[in-house]
Amino acid sequence: MKHSKILGLGSYLPEKVLTNEDLEKIVDTSDEWITERTGIKKRHIAADDQNASDLGIIAAQRALADAGLAGSDIDMIIVGTATPDKMFPGTACYIGDKIGANGAPAFDVTAACPGFIFGLSIADQYIKTGFAKNILVVGTEILSRLMNWEDRSTCVIFGDGAGAAVVSASDEPGILSTHIHSDGSYGELLFGNNAIRGQLGDYPEPQIVMRGNEVFKVAVKTLSAIVDETLEANNLEKSDIDWLIPHQANIRIIQATAKKLGAGMEKVIVAVDQHGNTSSASIPLAWDQAIKDGRVKRGDLCLLESFGGGFTWGSALIRY
Ligand code: UT7
Repeated sequence: MKHSKILGLGSYLPEKVLTNEDLEKIVDTSDEWITERTGIKKRHIAADDQNASDLGIIAAQRALADAGLAGSDIDMIIVGTATPDKMFPGTACYIGDKIGANGAPAFDVTAACPGFIFGLSIADQYIKTGFAKNILVVGTEILSRLMNWEDRSTCVIFGDGAGAAVVSASDEPGILSTHIHSDGSYGELLFGNNAIRGQLGDYPEPQIVMRGNEVFKVAVKTLSAIVDETLEANNLEKSDIDWLIPHQANIRIIQATAKKLGAGMEKVIVAVDQHGNTSSASIPLAWDQAIKDGRVKRGDLCLLESFGGGFTWGSALIRY
């Protein structure tokens, strides 16, 4: 059986920046509260004419350039997104068309924040079975379009962005294992209500609804458990991990997971201050930044982990 590895990574943040100070003018909040409770300082907001596919295409093109491949080399496109361009076609179809991968299967994964990890897990299976050689996995979100700008408990947290990885067949192990889970019994704690006619529920517009404090507690417990699950599956010690690359939801959740791993924050990639919670885009955005600035190097052992609406959660252990 073949192995799969990360051949290239790319990311993109829209130009417009919304700072905590900007938010103070919109809702009853403060830079102090947001910084202390979440670690976020700013988030990026997509332009009116940008959809999730537009952000994803730029990240995808950067990942292809990093991998030294053309779009026509891609055998499959998987997009994690909670904010697709349309109900259908999948956002992956638009990205596949723009990069010139017409004919390759392209589909979206609705797994909220861990969408990119779910995508990596699917890509890993298809490559190991020999069905595909190069798979593009994208996480892309325009969460600003799902914001209720009067709800201070959600609108200060989320932002827009995209990240992408080219996953390719390899003789050397790259993706060592992936672990994905869901539990729909928690569905009411965090959801984006449906835009289909008659399914808006109790809300006048499509929006993210979150019982933040309850989500927080389950997230901390679940992410700690998945760190153990991943280490056990690979027969590794905590100290073997070079980098923890967590979902960028809240600095306090990140710190709690790092503590569980027994890792100082110097082994943790933190980007939540720069772009808030970009859901499925947050891990490839943070990871790409850390590679480009020289922190994460080829051969480093990276533990990726994420948690989100569903609940869904997952991890990937990757020799980069
Ligand atoms: O990405 C997928 C998963 N999502 C997450 O992991 C998010 C998890 N949850 C969180 O990150 C945190 O729960 C939040 C950041 C959403 C909220 O922080 P918290 O410390 O759990 O606050 P809380 O909801 O317990 O609220 C504490 C207080 C409340 O006021 P009272 O009732 O104590 O007077 C809120 O009304 O903070 C108030 N509050 C705010 N105050 C100023 C809530 N949002 C704000 C705000 N500015 N933006």
